[in-house]
Amino acid sequence: MVKPFLEIKNINLSFQTKAGLIQILNDVNLEVLQGEAIALVGPSGSGKSSLLMLIGGLERPSSGQIHILNQDISKLSQASLTSFRRDTIGVIFQSFHLIPTMTALENVMVPLEIKKIDGIFQKSHEALEKVGLIKRKSHYPAELSGGEQQRVALARALVTRPKLILADEPTGNLDKGSGEVVTKILFELQEELGSTLIIVTHSDALAKKCDRQISIHDGKLSDSCF
Ligand SMILES: Nc1ncnc2c1ncn2[C@@H]1O[C@H](COP(=O)(O)OP(=O)(O)O)[C@@H](O)[C@H]1O
Ligand SMILES: [Mg+2]
Repeated sequence: MVKPFLEIKNINLSFQTKAGLIQILNDVNLEVLQGEAIALVGPSGSGKSSLLMLIGGLERPSSGQIHILNQDISKLSQASLTSFRRDTIGVIFQSFHLIPTMTALENVMVPLEIKKIDGIFQKSHEALEKVGLIKRKSHYPAELSGGEQQRVALARALVTRPKLILADEPTGNLDKGSGEVVTKILFELQEELGSTLIIVTHSDALAKKCDRQISIHDGKLSDSCF
């Protein structure tokens, strides 16, 4: 039997607030195979971003286990988790999160500089070429359209060739045309890398491009019918 790339077991996430304990994720279980593309859909506030942040090691569960490549990331120390994240995961956010004082090329270079690997300049150039933005390499984020900024963010997330790509509403702030360009590039790069992809989206068109659609309602998962 093929071992899943990602295995989520009995995950709960709750927060203590002034109004009392709130349960964000409720006994979530999910298995994802290497190379699969999963769409995570559901209404606002249902827990999509929270689940993605847990999978990305940016948040820790209140209970349960998250195995990625046979490692329980919920048990790693902060330092090990940071280095695991850096080596394995690329994240794309709805609002791009580029560094405004850096050019497009400099933004793409950041994760490589942190990893201290060879050929930073060449690899960053290649990544910008793949997203069709090499001509804009010296431009700052404020000089780029939303779609172009998201393409830079894609180049930055994928320049380290991550095995797992997490995208939180990657087309949520884009017009239809730019969203389609970003989607096309995202799937092309996923295929080239053979990476596993989990996308949170409100777009039916984007969700249908994935191998599987999972719905989340009030912190509980179910398979979605499309
Ligand atoms: N740090 C936090 N403390 C308290 N509540 C939170 C926290 N993070 C998220 N929530 C709540 O968890 C619920 C799910 O949020 P989120 O995962 O962002 O939903 P979605 O991405 O599906 O819109 C929301 O009700 C939100 O207000
Ligand atoms: Mg969200």
